[in-house]
Amino acid sequence: MKDTIRDTKEIESMSMSVVSPASLFKFRSKWSLEQLKSYIFLKNYFSFVNFKAKQNKPNIMKTQDFIDREDLYGAHNYHPLPVVLERGEGVFVWDVEGKRYFDFLASYSAVNQGHCHPKIVKAMVDQAGKLALTSRAFYNNVLGEWEEFMTKLFGYDKILPMNSGAEADETALKLIRKWGYKVKGIPENDARIIVCDGNFHGRTITIVSMSSDPDSYGDYGPFTPGFVKIPYNDLKTLEKELSHPYTAGFLVEPIQAEAGVYVPEDNYLRKAAQLCKEYNVLLAADEVQTGLCRTGRMLACDHEGVRPDLLILGKAASGGMYPVSCVLADDEIMLTIRPGEHGSTYGGNPLAAKVSLAAMNVLLDEKLSENATAMGKIFRDKMKAFDSPLIEQVRGKGLLNAIQIRPTNGKHAWDLCLAMKENGILAKPTHEHTIRFTPPLIITEAQMNEAIELIQKSMMEFV
Ligand SMILES: Cc1ncc(COP(=O)(O)O)c(C=O)c1O
Repeated sequence: MKDTIRDTKEIESMSMSVVSPASLFKFRSKWSLEQLKSYIFLKNYFSFVNFKAKQNKPNIMKTQDFIDREDLYGAHNYHPLPVVLERGEGVFVWDVEGKRYFDFLASYSAVNQGHCHPKIVKAMVDQAGKLALTSRAFYNNVLGEWEEFMTKLFGYDKILPMNSGAEADETALKLIRKWGYKVKGIPENDARIIVCDGNFHGRTITIVSMSSDPDSYGDYGPFTPGFVKIPYNDLKTLEKELSHPYTAGFLVEPIQAEAGVYVPEDNYLRKAAQLCKEYNVLLAADEVQTGLCRTGRMLACDHEGVRPDLLILGKAASGGMYPVSCVLADDEIMLTIRPGEHGSTYGGNPLAAKVSLAAMNVLLDEKLSENATAMGKIFRDKMKAFDSPLIEQVRGKGLLNAIQIRPTNGKHAWDLCLAMKENGILAKPTHEHTIRFTPPLIITEAQMNEAIELIQKSMMEFV
């Protein structure tokens, strides 16, 4: 009984957050199931009543109220930092209490051009007032302009527009299989696609079928067959699998970003591309996160002079304004898909095309690859030189960087992210001990230096 009372007080002190069975896990051993169920019911009920009372008075809603509302009505498929954002401009975002932060996540590299870039906003507003969506049942007067721009910029015959990165990856997988059957002559349903351990290509059933991360694939089977997983950065195993006559493609991230920013050895991609050519296998580069200036070149493949057979883009293709993704390839591959065989209602709509044109032009006009190279070097040099027991390793390329955190005094990467938040820096762990640092590419040297000082200040609080 004494324990129960103490635990109840402890739970009450967990502010007004909504109670889920998971958040009560540590108390479960001491409570009966019935006690637990009643408590969850009552707590959620009062949270709901409290929220309803404030619902129509946004001026009195505080950070925790916004969090409660999301917890109450939204699926719990993310674990956000406890900050509620309402405004963004350039490298900064502001929370509902008016506090300013450096955004060192940049929406998982979708906001390379900075928040609410005026040129992208203008393109969006102008086109939204004219024509937003027609579907691909008809032609529109904007899509072709974007298609011509993108194919000329990247040097491919054709482009296929989609919305999310996962859809673009799915499109590439379909193209690889289709090419495997129609061009390479692989017997029906026997095509194999090689992928790498630690990959991240999205969240669909087929994509998680390729994943080696139990958080991604756990309890989602049965899985799509036809994938062969090999270690990343391992050319010997790659060659063995490429030599199989039914292998149609090799799908790879030039740097594994979600896995924790793993940069392969120099020339890995170049040699992989040579091997693919030798064995008549398509190389598909997933540049959804590494592409569009993030690593200091327009494409991460450019560092090694590699032109993949299929180029997969997303995220920053629209500067965070609207979901735009695509696959680029030459006719021999792209024209294996015929009318009616693949598509998406929103893919290639006029609004997306205009937004993406503006976003791509910002990358070029503002020379964001050059800035990513220069600012990334400052970040890595200063963080490598900083003496902190928390830093196990600093790695990355351009402005795609990560710090491997060594747990210190019982504090982990998540705790450091909370401390950085207090000090005005937003970043998130990707996996337990790695924090990714990926600010918008427009960051200036003065801003970078200020942000580094705040990151270091946060680290010093733990030792
Ligand atoms: C390399 C890579 N591919 C695909 C995706 C999936 O993109 P989306 O979340 O837009 O579906 C991501 C997202 O982080 C990614 O990093």
